[in-house]
Amino acid sequence: MADRSRVAVLISGRGSNMAALIYASRAEDCPYEVVLVTGDKPDAHGLEIAKAEGIQVEPLDARALGAAYWDRLQQRLDETGIDLIALAGFMRIIPADFVARWAGRIVNIHPSLLPKYKGLHTQQQALDNGDTVSGATVHLVTPGLDSGEILGQVEVAILPSDTAETLEERVLIAEHQLYPDTVIRFLNRTRDFDWITGKVSELALKLPETSFQTSHGSPGWKVGSKSGSKFFAIMWNRHHGEENIGVLLKCSGQDEMAQLIEAEPEQYFRPAYYGPSDWIGIKLDRPRVDWDHVAGWLQRSWQAMAPPRLTKLMRAADEF
Ligand code: GRF
Repeated sequence: MADRSRVAVLISGRGSNMAALIYASRAEDCPYEVVLVTGDKPDAHGLEIAKAEGIQVEPLDARALGAAYWDRLQQRLDETGIDLIALAGFMRIIPADFVARWAGRIVNIHPSLLPKYKGLHTQQQALDNGDTVSGATVHLVTPGLDSGEILGQVEVAILPSDTAETLEERVLIAEHQLYPDTVIRFLNRTRDFDWITGKVSELALKLPETSFQTSHGSPGWKVGSKSGSKFFAIMWNRHHGEENIGVLLKCSGQDEMAQLIEAEPEQYFRPAYYGPSDWIGIKLDRPRVDWDHVAGWLQRSWQAMAPPRLTKLMRAADEF
């Protein structure tokens, strides 16, 4: 698959979930590749496995590095060009500023059915409480411990004979299925037309006096009062042989369009039929979409199509 997401796996020990992520990535249609394995302990067993699999390994020692550790890690991730961090048995509390920098692009696997049993000794807690099911959860990482959006969960039945150890072993088998599967679904949604349309809609409808309407069957957004409203954004779903999903927005003219497409062909395209009337396409089914940038373009296009009474207000607000 072209343009796979680049994943870094962070571990502290055994690395069996890391291995599961690596092996799953070998499927031809897998939307990610593991390009870096690192962590906080240079002797973590998983590093050895990753190395044997030909994956770039960075053995960082958090204890020895002290306060410099998080900067070193960040630097390594930047150099490697990482789209997603997958924590897999990474046993260190992550500072809030690091999490903020990776918001929405850092996931973790936890051996319980969250929000039950955050932290350690989850299977013992499940047994002590007489639960009949345990399981595992993959979630987005936020500053609170084990509390970000749940992306995937799997249940594992508890046997009367289970000890924390036997239960842990079986939950681990389930983790190995759940983690790659959830990461794949999570990454694929950024290539899904309805998901992308939802993101654009959220941003478009934040602008004043906007409404949703389809244009020749495509989702679109208009500005202005009912009688005189105009489209300022229209979705593009691989129409007319163009292979990407994107959004069409008004640019300043043919010169700007040609310049942008020449400079960044991976980001911009000239849509058939719409191109001649200054609609430029922004490709959105890529792993590295900058949604702030898209929001800026939506605002620009809104400004180009909005009636003067609205743009005047906007300009006044900007100057204020
Ligand atoms: C797993 O149980 C995972 O859920 C938890 O730590 C353990 C890591 O195991 N966060 P491994 O290193 O992936 O084998």
